[in-house]
This record gives sequence, structure tokens and C-alpha cells, in this order.
Amino acid sequence: MSTVDIDAKIPNNVDLAADRRLQRALESWQPKFLDWWRELGPVAYRDRPVYLRTAIAVGKEGWANFDHVTMPDYRWGIFLADPEPDRRIAFGDHQGEAVWQEIPGEHRGELRRLVVVQGDTEPASVEQQRHLGGTAPSLYDLRNLYQVNVEEARHLWAMVYLLHRYFGRDGRDEADELLERHSGDADNPRILGAFNEPTPDWLSFFMFTYFTDRDGKFQLASLRESAFDPLSRTCDFMLKEEAHHMFVGATGVGRVVQRTVELMKEHDTDDIRPFGGIDVDTLQRYLNFHYSVSLDLFGAETSTNAANYFAAGLKGRYKEEQRDDDHRLRDTTRLVPVVTDEGIGEREAPQVLALNETLRDDFAADSQKGVDRWNRTLEEVGRRLTLPHLGFNRAVGTFAGRRVSPDGRLVSEDEWAASVDSWLPSPADRDHVTSLMVGVVEPGKMAGWVAPPATGIHAKPVNFEYVKI
Ligand SMILES: [Fe+2]
Ligand SMILES: [Fe+2]
Repeated sequence: MSTVDIDAKIPNNVDLAADRRLQRALESWQPKFLDWWRELGPVAYRDRPVYLRTAIAVGKEGWANFDHVTMPDYRWGIFLADPEPDRRIAFGDHQGEAVWQEIPGEHRGELRRLVVVQGDTEPASVEQQRHLGGTAPSLYDLRNLYQVNVEEARHLWAMVYLLHRYFGRDGRDEADELLERHSGDADNPRILGAFNEPTPDWLSFFMFTYFTDRDGKFQLASLRESAFDPLSRTCDFMLKEEAHHMFVGATGVGRVVQRTVELMKEHDTDDIRPFGGIDVDTLQRYLNFHYSVSLDLFGAETSTNAANYFAAGLKGRYKEEQRDDDHRLRDTTRLVPVVTDEGIGEREAPQVLALNETLRDDFAADSQKGVDRWNRTLEEVGRRLTLPHLGFNRAVGTFAGRRVSPDGRLVSEDEWAASVDSWLPSPADRDHVTSLMVGVVEPGKMAGWVAPPATGIHAKPVNFEYVKI
């Protein structure tokens, strides 16, 4: 068991005090991080006490401590899951060999890229969400937003630790650049598209945490398989925090759906906008948008980079060890989508080249589960939400530059233009949703467009003072 030094200037369970050089380097990054947090982190109630959980141990029990803290005083730190004794590489050319505690020179560049791309998404989402605090639908939601924000910032710490500890001078430069790229910045944007989209309202936030944080779950889960053990243990602990983010998304959308159904029944109409609700068609369009931009995050259908990462043991598949195959994938194939002017079809590709598509499939299946739950609520009013076709609104891979309807038809530019406002959030949808965004800060009270949660956080009641305004 690794003990957590929670009182250190940088809380950690990596025995930072034993490595003075590294400790000094990270302590000199810390003020830059805090400057970034103040400049681009949450805007509203930024110095008010928030009921947050902080990691104090990484074992199964008691890893999280709940208390009211003001966010600038949050104990951001470096936490790795406990090592797995005699852990072996589960896949690729080095299958069966002992995992690595240091980086083999030949994989340095690729591993650095993987860590930087993951690290870049973490502060990006904080930047995307920075204005939401002022319009939170309740104190409970405000607290959840800030929990997500401080944990994404801790995920940045997790990646910065790896960069500083294992990648020398290049790593330190990359760590600085993680604070210099900014979401949506015209000159120096974040690396991945979805992380440059604004998160302008709470419906977007719930959809983002449901779909885009779920991309994060799948990326982290495949990095957890890595032969590079410190990366594996880092991601393992991040996944524990990530689970809460997806809970916020799944229950957030679920509560909106519930309120929508209540208003539809109460007023006996689908058009609940006059009654301050979000109609099912608008929910569907927001879902279409967030699902499709999240699908792009998995990359092209086939990728030699992904194949190389896998062969080298750098990045595995979701739940690699539970898969019933040879974990090398040299001789097997699978079908991947392909679009030509003739239409949408499939082609055979070596499995090892199609790992992005395999991870995207896993993501799609996982995404469907929440939709099924929301549909059980919507059944009462005879409506349902659906995930759009894989090719809808895609900008990466075979579907890029093609126009595909949500039901999976290749359509003309004219049909797209005529239909896009019924497929993706229209300016009128966004105006309506924006008009509903008013901050509610009385304990236990909810904005009218969302139902209260079934239970509070950490066994506290829903009307607990989660943020002391
Ligand atoms: Fe994260
Ligand atoms: Fe997250």
C-alpha cells in the first residue's frame, strides 16, 4: 500500500519528498497551475465553500474525504492506484513480459504523445465549463459541477506528474504547454475538436458529461492496460473519479427527461416550451450533437498509430484481459464502415488496424445503456430518444465530408441544409435553453426545467447547503 502524504505542499502517494529535483520542478509548476485556475477556471462563487470530496487514500475504502472547501484551497495532488504485484503485459508483442517501471527509449515519443493528448482534454473541459456556475439549476448541481472541475484539474496534475517524472526536459515543456493551449483559442486551441466546442448551458453540460466524459472513460480504460505501469496506475485512479462525472451526466439528462415527461402529462402537449420545459425534440438534437462530436474523438476507423501502440504494449483495448482472443490480433480481421459515392458500406480490415473502431463500438454500446434508461421514463408519454447513426455529423474518418442523416442515409447537401435544424440544435433551440438558465441558490430548490435528484451526495439530503453562497 502506498501511503498518501496529504499535508505535503503537493499531496501525493508517490513519495515525492524522496525526489527533491522532481519535487522542486513540480512545485515550480504549481503556481502556474493556480494562475491558470484563477484565470480560466470557474467564474461564479469561486471563493465560496463547496462540499467536495478530496482523495486522501487510494485503497478500496476511504479514498475520498468530503468537506466544505473553497476551490483555490482544494488539495490537488498526485495519486496512483496501488501497484498490482507481478503485473504482466496483457497484449501485443511483449505479451507475458513484466510491465515497465521506466520508459523504453524507443517508445518515448509515442508515450509522450498519448500522455499529452489525454492531459490536454482535462483543463480543456474546465475552460469549457467555466461560466456555468452562475446558472446552476440548484446548489446540488453547482456542487457537482465544481466537483467535476476540480477533478479534471487533478487529472491534469496526474498527467503533468508523468511528464515531469518520466520525460525530462521535453516533458516539462509539454506540461507548460498544457496551460498555454486554451479551449476555443483561435491561435492556440486544444488538441481535440470536441474540447474546443463551448459548453454554453446546463443541458450541454449534462450531455457533455454523459458522452464526452465517457470517451474519457474509454481512453483511460485502454491506457490502464498499458505496459508502462505508472501510466496504468495513474489511469486506474483517474477512472475512480471519472465514474462520478458520468453519474452527473446520466442522472442530469435523466432528471431533465423526467421533468419533460411531467410537464407533458400536466399540460397534455408535446410543446412544453411555454411551460418552461425542454421538449423531447430539443433533447434529441442536443443528444445528436454531443454523441456525434464524441464519436470523432476515437479517431479514424483504421489507424497505423493505434496498431503500433497496441503492438508495442502502450495502449490496449477496453477490458483487454477479459477478451477471449490471442491479444495480438495479427491474423484476424473485422468489418469497419466505409463510405463511397455509392453509399455506406463495410470493408474488412486487420483487427489491429481497426482498434479505434473497436473502442468506438464499446463506447456506443455503453452510451446506449443510459438512453435505454431515459426511454423507460419517456415510455409514459409514448416518446423515445435514439442514438443517431454512426455517420451522422462526423468530421473524422470515412464519414468526414459526407452528409448522413440521423437514420443513416447518405443525403445531398440540399437535404442536409433543409433538415439540419431538425437534426442538430438550432439557434432557436439554443435561445430557448439559454432562456431557462437562471441560477437557483436556495438549498433544495430546483430550476423548473429539471427534476430534483433521487438522493443527495454522500448521504446528505437534497436540500443540504452544498455550496455556502
Ligand atoms: Fe478527466
Ligand atoms: Fe471527466
